[in-house]
Formats: sequence, C-alpha cells, structure tokens
Amino acid sequence: MEKKKVLSGVQSTGRLTLGNYFGAINNWVEMQEEYDCYYMIANLHSLTVRNDPETLKNNTKKIIALYLAAGLDPQKNTLFIQSQVKEHAELSWILNCYTYMGELSRMTQFKDKSEKHTDNINAGLFTYPVLMAADILLYQADYVPVGVDQMQHLEITRDIAERFNKLYGKTFVIPEVYLGKVSSKIMGLQDPTAKMSKSATNLNDVIFLEDEPDLILKKFKKAVTDSENKVQYNPENKPGVSNLMQIYSSATGSTLKEIEKEFEGSGYGDFKTKVAEAVISKLEPIQNKYNDLLNNQGYLEEIYTRGAEKARELASKTLKDVKERIGIL
Ligand code: TRP
Repeated sequence: MEKKKVLSGVQSTGRLTLGNYFGAINNWVEMQEEYDCYYMIANLHSLTVRNDPETLKNNTKKIIALYLAAGLDPQKNTLFIQSQVKEHAELSWILNCYTYMGELSRMTQFKDKSEKHTDNINAGLFTYPVLMAADILLYQADYVPVGVDQMQHLEITRDIAERFNKLYGKTFVIPEVYLGKVSSKIMGLQDPTAKMSKSATNLNDVIFLEDEPDLILKKFKKAVTDSENKVQYNPENKPGVSNLMQIYSSATGSTLKEIEKEFEGSGYGDFKTKVAEAVISKLEPIQNKYNDLLNNQGYLEEIYTRGAEKARELASKTLKDVKERIGIL
C-alpha cells in the first residue's frame, strides 16, 4: 500500500525557538517511517513582512540545517525550499481566483498581523493562506501537522479544495490536520498565556535554539510562575507552571502525571533548574550537529537541491492536471 502523504513547513522569518522545535520539528521525526513526508521552508511566506535579504537567505539555510540536525533523514523525507519549486507561486495565483475576500478577511492571523504591521498591510499578508493552500494541495497531502494557530489556515485550504473539486471533479485530496500525541504548544516564559514567539519584545520570554546553556538556564530561572509553589498541571489557573511542565514533558518524554509525582514536595526553584537542564541536554547534540551542518554549506545545498527536484515531480503533475481542468494552456 502506498504511504499517506504529509506536508508541513516553517517560515524563515526570525530566529527559531524552542516552540518551533517542540511544537513542530521534533514531532515530525516520529512520522518519517510511516508517512511520505514533505517539509519545506516557507520563504515566500516570509516576504509578507520586511526582511533583510542576507538574513532571509541565511535563515532559509539554517532551517534546512535544523531539519537535518533534529533527525529528519533526507533519504526518507523530502526537504526543500518553497521558492525553488515554482509551482507553488503558480498554483497560488490560480487558487486566488477560487478564494473569497470575505473568507480571507476572517483569518485571525491576518487581523493580528495587520495590527502589528500597520505600515505594511500588503496584499500578500491578505492572501497568505492561499499560498499555504497551494503548498499543501500541490502534494496531495493527506495530513498536515500544524499548531492550533494554523488550524484556520488548514480549514480554508480544505474549503478551497472542496470548492475546486466540486467545480472540476476530484482534483485535490482534502487534507486533514495531524495532531501529535501530546499537544505541544509552547507558551512564552514571561507571558505563558501567549504562544512563545520569535518576535517577542521581551527576550526572556523565548528560548532560541541557538541560545547557550547559561542563557537557557537564566531564562528558565526567570520564568513567570505563581505563588502556590506546587508543580501541578492546570493551564487555566497555573499557566506558567503548566507550560514548564509541558516543556519538561517534551524534553524528557515523561507524562504530566509523572512530572507531578517527580516534583511532589519540591519548590519552583528546583523544578525550573531541572527543566532547564532537561532542555539543555536535549538541545546540545542538536546544536552541535546544527553548527557542523552550517559549516558545510555544500552539503546543505545538495540536500535542498535534491529536495526541490523531488518535490517538483509531484507538484508539476498536480499543476498540470489543474491547468487542464480549468482550460489554461
Ligand atoms: N504558515 C505556517 C506557519 O507560520 C507555515 C507554512 C507555510 C505551512 N506553508 C505551510 C505549514 C503549509 C503547513 C503547511 O507556521
């Protein structure tokens, strides 16, 4: 039987965080045996906000390095850069014509981002979900592992695909969200009610994957908790501690129940140090590998060039079918 297909991606804007790792890439590693996986770097999506060109280029390569360092096997997964498969931009235009202004206006990410970047509310920011739909539909992906913040974009992708299929016959697989075993949304350390974000203004809020062990420890020590001094999972009333437990769980594989047991009777100081240590030891081998890979640009280029070739095989087939169905020569 043919393996089910999976597609996901990470934007190449800003520095990668612990949230990107535990919330996404780390979970993908588990999928590589069972599924035929395509993982891209969404560098075209990154253009919706202003970037320094040199930084954008470097960030793109850094994510490929991180994919590899985190354990994604390039033989088993197709790792590629979105802009290197032209079909994404082309299908995106076509799908724009099957997407309504009204549905795009309802996207919360658009609303948030246009509040943040009032000086640059560009059309790309508005049609961002259409490009994302193209990313997914080109590969006939069955599953899309994404965080809850991207669910709305997946919903619109399904709507666009269904609409198209209805008009022209079955063209696209309708993708489903893939939720990992543990919900692993990582929240900020200073504001545990909001997702850990690389664009946080308070740098203590976020652990960057490139942070040195000392800095990681310092940031965890400063993490916001509550006055109960009790390690207990309760995201409503104890968001800070619950987030630290979630992080500890991601780093060690222990369940939340096991963590409550392990830290019964111990205070937050001790707990925070243990969380920091667990994160540091989980990240260390990845950081070492990542640094080695960044020193080997030739190898990285080989990987993403091969990835783009492989991705194109499938993407071009889908695009050809789409064009034939709608009468585009
Ligand atoms: N928008 C996603 C994010 O910011 C990144 C992304 C782009 C993506 N294209 C995708 C994720 C396709 C899944 C599938 O996280």
